[in-house]
Amino acid sequence: MTTTILRLCGQHTELQLRHRPTAELLYWGRKLAHFDQAAADTLVRAVPNSRLDVDVPLGLNPEAGRGVFSAPGVEGHRQGMDWSPVFEPVSVSHQGQQARLIYEDAIAGLRLEMEIGLDPDSEVLALRHTLTNLKAGDYELARLALTLQLPERVSELQAFHGRWCKEFQSHRVPLVHGGYLQENRRGRTSHEYFPGFMLGTPGFGEQQGEVWGFHLAWSGNHRLRADVKSDGRRFVQAEALYAPGEIRLAEGESCSTPWLYASYSDAGLTTMSRRFHRFVRAHILNWPVAKLRPVHLNTWEGIYFDHSPAYIMEMASRAAEMGVERFIIDDGWFRGRDHDRAALGDWYLDERKYSEGLEPVIAHVKALGMEFGIWFEPEMVNPDSDLYRAHPDWLLALPGYHQPAGRFQYVLDLQNPEVFGYLLARFDELLGRYHIDYVKWDMNRELVQPGHEGRPAQHGQTLAVYRLLDELARRHPRVEFESCASGGGRIDYEILKRAHRFWPSDNNDALDRQQIQRGMSYFFPPEVMGTHIGTHHSHSTRRELSIAFRGLTALFGHMGVELDPVKESEAERQGFARYIALHKQLRPLLHGGEVVRLDSPDPAQLIHGVVSPDRSEAVFYVGQLTLPRYALSGALRLPGLAADKRYRVELLERPACFDYGVMKKLPLWVDGGCVAGGDWLAEAGLAMPVLDPQSAMVIKLTAL
Ligand code: DGJ
Repeated sequence: MTTTILRLCGQHTELQLRHRPTAELLYWGRKLAHFDQAAADTLVRAVPNSRLDVDVPLGLNPEAGRGVFSAPGVEGHRQGMDWSPVFEPVSVSHQGQQARLIYEDAIAGLRLEMEIGLDPDSEVLALRHTLTNLKAGDYELARLALTLQLPERVSELQAFHGRWCKEFQSHRVPLVHGGYLQENRRGRTSHEYFPGFMLGTPGFGEQQGEVWGFHLAWSGNHRLRADVKSDGRRFVQAEALYAPGEIRLAEGESCSTPWLYASYSDAGLTTMSRRFHRFVRAHILNWPVAKLRPVHLNTWEGIYFDHSPAYIMEMASRAAEMGVERFIIDDGWFRGRDHDRAALGDWYLDERKYSEGLEPVIAHVKALGMEFGIWFEPEMVNPDSDLYRAHPDWLLALPGYHQPAGRFQYVLDLQNPEVFGYLLARFDELLGRYHIDYVKWDMNRELVQPGHEGRPAQHGQTLAVYRLLDELARRHPRVEFESCASGGGRIDYEILKRAHRFWPSDNNDALDRQQIQRGMSYFFPPEVMGTHIGTHHSHSTRRELSIAFRGLTALFGHMGVELDPVKESEAERQGFARYIALHKQLRPLLHGGEVVRLDSPDPAQLIHGVVSPDRSEAVFYVGQLTLPRYALSGALRLPGLAADKRYRVELLERPACFDYGVMKKLPLWVDGGCVAGGDWLAEAGLAMPVLDPQSAMVIKLTAL
């Protein structure tokens, strides 16, 4: 009998790992009734003809030197030597649901440490590898990847693509030979490829199918791969991408992968998300003060660079009347920042605009009972700035090559101690001088030829950004941060360990926001998703949408408004106030409950909700994006409620289209509500009314 198998358990799922001769994932799925060390013998495979004479495990670190013909977990060399390591077990520690496995290759002089843990509460798996050079002579590490094998029944993959103003669009592909590969080389998490995907059994959906979800927590370049081998085995591999020669380990030095977070669900994507959200709430988020998420007003689309303190104070007064709780001055407050072509780097208050300082504005905001926030973009410099004129050599660039500008700006080399020191001093001083509760930390361009002293520096730059944020948070522990990068260009769990909110997109158009917010909801809970009501015509698409559609769409995140309340009509202002009040009323449920997404048979509809953990209340959103496919949309089945509870069902507000004659007769429950059991609502459902395109309704359920 073998005693080399570790078991990591949650309440519903488990993992079994063999740790010698190599680390191998034997099982990851539903929790089993029994654990038997000998049971793994059932998985000992045949060795077919015309292959190596032994069966070679794929392993958590595939080793070409053992005969794994897939992308290895470690690639590197020491001046052309030690390039095909084979690691032998050294030690294992296993405590609770955490394990630490250490392997060494005495010939290559390398140690590989694997940390793997299953959070028993959320059932989310966390995995990280660390490679250490044990020998004299630098080890040039080209790749260090995390690999997890998946069962043969996995056949589909859902991933995300996107661009500026259109983040988190999802696509589905079959998992076949040749596999799926995504690479982000943009130097930040990117709009293009979110570092996460889901794989599952055929036709997996929101409520059905087995799903394995993965997120690589890293704000720089990454590679995610899912592949099928010729013997049918499937695996997922995740890694940070290093530039050639970037990771050079001297004797005793180490390099770690980012954390890979993963979750298994036997009940579809919604259960997977619930697990990730639970994990984020318990282990990633770090609130300075646990409190209700304050409703924002962000000035960007309201005034852009046109800052006048008196006017801004008037905006703040109007904002407070509407129920706003945190007032944020966006770009345009610092010296010379009249447009986006100048001044980044000169982090001093613009005294032409704020001749009496920022203090009167902050005092006014605070007197109105709101928190005060401000916009920073620390990593950047405009060529037209005093900072650049004084230090043209501070750029993250390669000497001798032309560095293209992006949004008229360059990136600063944060691994240069002088640059790091300057930024730390400037932002430390600003956060110390002014009573700032909140920072919107922006990052508006991608990295091209990121060089530090001629060497590649994109990995190091990402780590330096983390260090800068960590040090500012240490010095100013009560300040909250928002991660923004031209909208949703830096959204991941590693930055979220240092941030408290994301700006998902510069696109506030409620129609486009449907998919953006849905895509983001797979891995992120509503309280970190910034959702702002914009003006009636969207600044990014020029589309005009009703206040009801805009307001209800923004309800299901961390709400805010993005506009100039002084210029808005009285009717619009009343609309903002109305949805802010509704958000506040639902906020504890929205920000503490469990997200439910529904697969709608009609792509013209998008339906999701939040159910309180004790199942005593729930709220569901039905968005009608375009004309419904059928004259009637059938019955809406509402999963996630308690089967044995009875609920009062009510429409939270009557969509205007109900009074324009889209129906001769409304479903019976719409006027006055109804009462039904949780299992009835889940299995039989509610007859749907007809909705106009670009409208929405919200249904509230309260247990009797
Ligand atoms: C890009 C951000 O995504 C916007 O919200 C805004 O803050 C601008 N930058 C300001 O320059």
